[in-house]
Amino acid sequence: MMNFHIMTLFPEMVTDGLNTSILKRAIDKNLISIDAVQIRDYTLDKHNKVDDYTYGGGAGMLMQAQPVYDCAMDIQKKILEKGRNKSRVVFVTPRGFTFNQKMAQDFSKEEDLIFLCGHYEGIDERVLEEIVTDYVSIGDYVLTGGELPAMVMIDAISRLVPGVLNNSESSETESFSDGLLEYPQYTRPETWHDKTVPAILLSGHHANVEKWRLEQSLIQTQKFRPDMYEKWMELHPVVEKKKRRRKKKIPLDL
Ligand code: ADE
Repeated sequence: MMNFHIMTLFPEMVTDGLNTSILKRAIDKNLISIDAVQIRDYTLDKHNKVDDYTYGGGAGMLMQAQPVYDCAMDIQKKILEKGRNKSRVVFVTPRGFTFNQKMAQDFSKEEDLIFLCGHYEGIDERVLEEIVTDYVSIGDYVLTGGELPAMVMIDAISRLVPGVLNNSESSETESFSDGLLEYPQYTRPETWHDKTVPAILLSGHHANVEKWRLEQSLIQTQKFRPDMYEKWMELHPVVEKKKRRRKKKIPLDL
């Protein structure tokens, strides 16, 4: 069971976006839970304000420390009350390490994860210092807020939680799981726009199909992700076929 807690000023964006298809099924099966928490509910400001101008000047507003801190503390307290351990707090920010499949695997082993989504120009540094354990980006571009990146990460992590995918959706044999991109796939009809499905896939010869798929994966990876191809080749040195040992000729004493 994985419990996601998302600290945000736009909770509907997160819940609406994640409550479909495979993740909806996972929520219904109690394999994951998604709790989007409104940071604004924690402000002590009488006008419900959560942002203010930046010291030192400059454009834009900054999220204040107090509501963010109280919100995080309340989530942690509820987690501890349920007998679980204090959660990691992931601040979703372009300044973080870039998210990848390995990080998704690492996060998927947790029982709880708190995502902090920033808005405006950012969040007061002092509260980040006190509550954040991981700074994570989803790539070198800037979005208007942390909600979409948090949703991207939650999707990638959820599908690694045992039981979320069924066998036919299994994450075992697909892109990145073994460091190669996926091979091309085909479904009916056999011929479409004069293009015919590769004959080997219709042959029913399982071993040949597997061999073809590996070759195709290698071709795709070399073409689209030469960096991944190099890494894979380093990890999988081509094993030369063992020379067949000649049977020692035993000299005959005649
Ligand atoms: N917030 C804004 N842009 C972002 C990005 N690329 N990754 C994570 N969080 C962000």
